[in-house]
Amino acid sequence: MSASDRGVVLLIGISRGIGRGLAAEFLRRGWSVIGTVRSPQDGLEALAEGTAGSLRIEHLDVTKPEQIVVLRERLASVRLDVLFVSAGISDDDVPVATIGDATFNNVMVTNALAPMRIIETFQDLVTDQGTMAAMSSGQGSISRNDRGDFEVYRASKSALNQLMRSYAARHRGETRALLLIAPGWVQTGLGGPGAHLTVEAPHTGDDLAPAVAGWRRRSTACSPQSTSRTRWRRPSRRPPDDNQS
Ligand SMILES: NC(=O)c1ccc[n+]([C@@H]2O[C@H](COP(=O)([O-])OP(=O)(O)OC[C@H]3O[C@@H](n4cnc5c(N)ncnc54)[C@H](OP(=O)(O)O)[C@@H]3O)[C@@H](O)[C@H]2O)c1
Repeated sequence: MSASDRGVVLLIGISRGIGRGLAAEFLRRGWSVIGTVRSPQDGLEALAEGTAGSLRIEHLDVTKPEQIVVLRERLASVRLDVLFVSAGISDDDVPVATIGDATFNNVMVTNALAPMRIIETFQDLVTDQGTMAAMSSGQGSISRNDRGDFEVYRASKSALNQLMRSYAARHRGETRALLLIAPGWVQTGLGGPGAHLTVEAPHTGDDLAPAVAGWRRRSTACSPQSTSRTRWRRPSRRPPDDNQS
């Protein structure tokens, strides 16, 4: 069985962090991974070494619409089982009224607009039984926001959630699964060193890829109600407040 027989995933943002961990896990499971980075990365090819999977690296800055179009053209002949947008950034963690316009716009475009542009642009490459996923965050929850930090980051993930619901409503009747993922608080450049989860640790890094890969729509109608999210399993000794990331 070849890697493409096992499944083909387009992963947006595999240079580091959770996206890189996802790429490694899909490769370990024998998938064909097309992973994007915005600038050349030394050693990324090594992720596929010793795995049954295959890795093709493409370049994309998600904030550049023209690059999204070019990548779509380059992948015109590919059929995707999973499209997963992981790339994202945080903010300066200052109250919203004091944030600069450039930072505000960059966080919103990167975290909310770009994933939806990518999903709209690549949707027809995803098989009817395939999955389109974007990395959201528990911090996108309005009802659970009782700390008020990282205000613009939170707002960008809330916006992403809302935009994905609108997409689902517009595409009612389509069979592809739509997922918004809250991965938990993970040690990465964005999550910082104090996070409770690591990309590599058992119960975390090996959990999200199969959850996404194994997702299949249970009904034929696509509605906002059926838009789902999944979570990585957490260590049993998790502190009570680690659901904010
Ligand atoms: N870590 C957590 O605790 C946590 C919790 C909830 C949700 N998330 C979400 O998980 C996703 C991945 O975050 P992470 O923790 O893995 O962060 P990370 O280690 O900082 O990695 C961020 C990734 O996004 C890429 N990226 C950022 N801006 C980009 C752009 N304009 N174009 C293309 N790629 C871009 C980065 O590429 P470069 O290397 O080129 O910068 C990098 O690959 C994000 O959407 C984040 O909001 C993370």
